[in-house]
Order: sequence, then structure tokens, then C-alpha cells
Amino acid sequence: MKRILVIGATGQIGSELTMELRKRYGNGNVVAGYITGAEPKGELKESGPSTVVDVTSGEMIAAAVKEYEIDTIYNLAALLSVVAESKPRLAWKIGIDGLWNVLEVARECGCAVFTPSSIGSFGKDTPHVDTPQDTLQRPSTMYGITKVTTELLSDYYFSKYGVDTRAVRFPGIISNVTPPGGGTTDYAVDIYYAAVKGEKFVCPIKPGTLMDMMYMPDALNAAIMLMEANPEKLLHRNAFNIASMSFDPEMIYQAIRKYMPGFEMVYDIDPLKQRIADSWPDRMDDTCAREEWGWKPKYDLDAMTVDMLEKLRLRLG
Ligand code: SER
Repeated sequence: MKRILVIGATGQIGSELTMELRKRYGNGNVVAGYITGAEPKGELKESGPSTVVDVTSGEMIAAAVKEYEIDTIYNLAALLSVVAESKPRLAWKIGIDGLWNVLEVARECGCAVFTPSSIGSFGKDTPHVDTPQDTLQRPSTMYGITKVTTELLSDYYFSKYGVDTRAVRFPGIISNVTPPGGGTTDYAVDIYYAAVKGEKFVCPIKPGTLMDMMYMPDALNAAIMLMEANPEKLLHRNAFNIASMSFDPEMIYQAIRKYMPGFEMVYDIDPLKQRIADSWPDRMDDTCAREEWGWKPKYDLDAMTVDMLEKLRLRLG
């Protein structure tokens, strides 16, 4: 039986991953680790154990791992791409000093570790179409620099110390529970909120800018499937390309207009977001994930749009 600690359990991915892990492994076996000021609420709080774990404190991580007899850590503490550009030192402190703490505790206590990478780990010189699993990674953002370092450090702890590190490169993730904060792909979440609230959407990204995106249920499934995969089949570890859909602002706008014909969108380009988006892949090739651990997404743009609109309508009235 797995005993799991989620670090960053109240964030965009963590809040839903913690609930999904509780469903699969039992409520009592999944500990929600959060920082002071971002306490779990509602179902996340009521359904299982939670504890303060600041990723920048190795002692706090070690104490939680020992107290709850943890064998698997999902390390989701990170700043997203846009906010990391305004706080590069903090992005490094959380992303890399924090990862070092997690990996050291994992080495001492024999834990497996999942620390996601991202489409942000690629740069403008990377092939943008069908971006290969193994290719040039020279990102120009601090977010990307921390993600490439995450991949390298995680592989290093596997090859040097045998720590069972595994990860995926997440596309932009779209969900209707906890909103993202400070990412380049956030527009693809915000657009649904605007549509359901009956507002005109102001898009910060230029038409024609393709990026990989994924609906949250597929993203959660990818993380859990990879951590369950047979290690003998894994030729790669940190980190696998995973893909399910790639679209530009016009494509998601039209997907929503199919169900809400009156919905309107205008453009007001954010230069920083546009520069970051232009440096990321149009679409990654995820053949290795499909072959090595059976990755297969369920949602395309249309199926996601139907579900997003339905869930947001219920919640926002
Ligand atoms: N969603 C992230 C961002 O936009 C990319 O992985 O920063």
C-alpha cells in the first residue's frame, strides 16, 4: 500500500491530484502538504490528513515523511512561468533548492519522487513541431531553467543513488477547480470563465500561437500512471513528453462558440507572455510515453470544452 505526501497540495494541480490519489489509495494514505497561508479547505481538508510542509525546509519534509511513513512524494511546489520572471531567485529557491531537499529526504528514507517538468523546459531553438523526447533544451525563462535543472537533478539522483524519480513534461493544464496563477497558458483557463460569466474575453496571446494543452483529468492520470509503471520498461525517467491537444487562441475560441455562439473575444497582446509562448513547442511528440508506460489521453479540445462549460455553469450559476 502506498503512503503518499503531496507537496503543494493546495495549488492548481495539487488540489485535484490529492483528491484523485485519495480516491485510488484511500483517504488516510494521502497527506496534503501545504504552506502557511495556503491551508486546505472544504473537501480537501475534511477528507484526509494534512500538514504544513514548506519545500524550502528539508527538516519539515523529513518530519512529515517520518511521521506519516511516506514512501512516495509528489513534489508540486513551483512558481509558474510569468511570475517566475518577476521573482527569479524565489523560483530557483522553491524549484531547485526545494527539489534538492526533497531528493535528499527521498534518498535517506527510500521514497519515490514525482517532480513535474513542463513544455517550458524547451527554448526557441528546439524543434517546435513534433518536439522529440530527446532534443535541445535551452530555455530563456527562469521557469524553464528550473525545469531543465529539475530533470537533470532528478535523473542524477536516480543514477547515482537509485532514488526512483519519474516525471512528465506537462503541457498547459486546464481545469475548473483551482485556477492557475502567473502562467503563460492561463489564458486557456480564463477564456472559459469569461464565456460562462457572459464577459468578453481579452486574449493576451496572438492568434496562430500554438501550444500543447491538456485537461486536468488526463494530467492527473499521467502522473499516477507513470508512478505505477513497471520500472523495467522505462528507458527514460525525467521527464516524458505527454500530449493530448494543441491549439491557438482562435481554435479554443471557436470550440467555445460552437456551444455559446454569442461569445466574444478581442486581443490585447502581453509582450512577456507572447515571448514565452513563442519559445515553447507547438506540439510535442509523446511516442516514448505511449510506448514505455502506455500513456493515452481521453480528452480532445471539444470533449474538454463540453465538460469545462458544464462544470463551470454548475459552479458559477
Ligand atoms: N502552465 C505553465 C505556465 O504557463 C507551463 O507549464 O507557466
